Amino acid sequence: MGTVHVLDHPLIQHKLTHIRDKNTGTKDFRELVNEIAMLMAFEITRNLPLQETTIETPVQEAKANVLAGKKIGLIPILRAGLGMVDGMVRLIPAAKVGHVGLYRDPETLEPVEYYIKLPSDISERELIVLDPMLATGGSAADAIHSLKKRGAKQIRLVCIVAAPEGVERIKKEHPDVDIYLAALDEGLDDKAYIVPGLGDAGDRLFGTK
Ligand code: URA
Repeated sequence: MGTVHVLDHPLIQHKLTHIRDKNTGTKDFRELVNEIAMLMAFEITRNLPLQETTIETPVQEAKANVLAGKKIGLIPILRAGLGMVDGMVRLIPAAKVGHVGLYRDPETLEPVEYYIKLPSDISERELIVLDPMLATGGSAADAIHSLKKRGAKQIRLVCIVAAPEGVERIKKEHPDVDIYLAALDEGLDDKAYIVPGLGDAGDRLFGTK
């Protein structure tokens, strides 16, 4: 069963409080989302494999560790997931970035991919799916299905704020996917906004309110 990790580092929590604040404007919101994503990248890469190498320090030869070169793919879900990419890439510069955009057909209720572009080797990569808000979990669950359909084998989901409903849905549909959050909120309101949440993350990131 996928595990839920709430990354409650004080810096993450401090920045989260600022993005929750309705008086935080687009510029600061965007910067803070990226900073939170960068701090989350630091936490979720804790277990990356290392390999030993030999270097010369100015003093003597020394054995030292370098990253073993695990392949990572960042997959922002359009559009709000884009707000987390730069922060993640700052810490994981070799990551490839794929994009997934989908909506639910209002009649069939089936997910429709309106955009999908992925690294060609996704089955060899550890994929980190990005979406700042995990509300009902519908988009994230559908995006993960799309990735699995194309061969993805190792997937983690990183969101900033989640509702328990979204977490339950991912656990049910994708029990192999670990979820990383900055906060697990109370629930959803009647418009499927996360409560207390931070409003519409896409609108706040892109100034489209
Ligand atoms: N998407 C958002 O951007 N905010 C919510 O509260 C729920 C979904």
